[in-house]
Amino acid sequence: MRITINNIKEMKEKGEKITMLTAYDYSTAQIVDGVGIPLILVGDSLGMVVLGYESTIPVTMDEMLHHTKAVVRGTQQAMIIGDMPFMTYHVSVDDALRNAARFIQEAGAQAVKLEGGVTVAEKVRRVVECGIPVMGHIGLTPQSVHQFGGHRVQGKTPEAAIRILEDAKALEEAGVFSIVLETVPAPLATLITQKVGVPTIGIGAGIGCDGQVQVINDILGSFADFVPRHAKQYAKLTDIIRDAVTEYYGEVTAGSFPTDKQSTSMDESILAELKAKEK
Ligand code: KIV
Repeated sequence: MRITINNIKEMKEKGEKITMLTAYDYSTAQIVDGVGIPLILVGDSLGMVVLGYESTIPVTMDEMLHHTKAVVRGTQQAMIIGDMPFMTYHVSVDDALRNAARFIQEAGAQAVKLEGGVTVAEKVRRVVECGIPVMGHIGLTPQSVHQFGGHRVQGKTPEAAIRILEDAKALEEAGVFSIVLETVPAPLATLITQKVGVPTIGIGAGIGCDGQVQVINDILGSFADFVPRHAKQYAKLTDIIRDAVTEYYGEVTAGSFPTDKQSTSMDESILAELKAKEK
């Protein structure tokens, strides 16, 4: 039985911290799920850390569905949340409904996430009314990176802080089951967490949120392009992978891999018969 939105809401009520992590493939999702992490986000960060795009903007529905299916296949207990790509829910309620439904119906996710507050509230309401749980995402919303002029902390001025609080309230009112708060000052995130009834999941938003989310490549140290300030590296996988690949390369070129251990032998008489026939 997978985690449900009711379990997540209960965690806030009980004051239990909620952990969310991204995953994009079957084998990584298996590990994350096995640890017991309740929320796995197939984030559109996929575009940057897996597909090598400069931002999340080029990510398509087909790419997201492909990876969401793999994550669903690798998991049993976590709730899988599919991240709706740029412009798949902005133009119309119809678009939002059709694309959200694809995550649930085709990919097997249990919820979707989309970026924005007041401006997307009507679309959120309709998607929720159709039975699809929605996670909101406000503050630094990476799909608006060009509008923000870069990946900057949001909500530092009084007007901007009020706007983000209003966004959170509009999302709650529209029916989201939780809200990601990205790169906002910690005291603002704490205030929003107190003011809304749904759980807040922070990334670069301080300890006062109901939960935390990170991009898995950032905490594993497996994305070499940059390390966001909000990320803590619990491992340095790039070094481990580089060392392993270097050793393999060295052994193949030196003729010391494979050994008998990685090879299969055959009956001498069969080999002799084959050789005799080949003469
Ligand atoms: O795409 C993503 O991974 C995200 C998280 C950073 C919240 O949106």
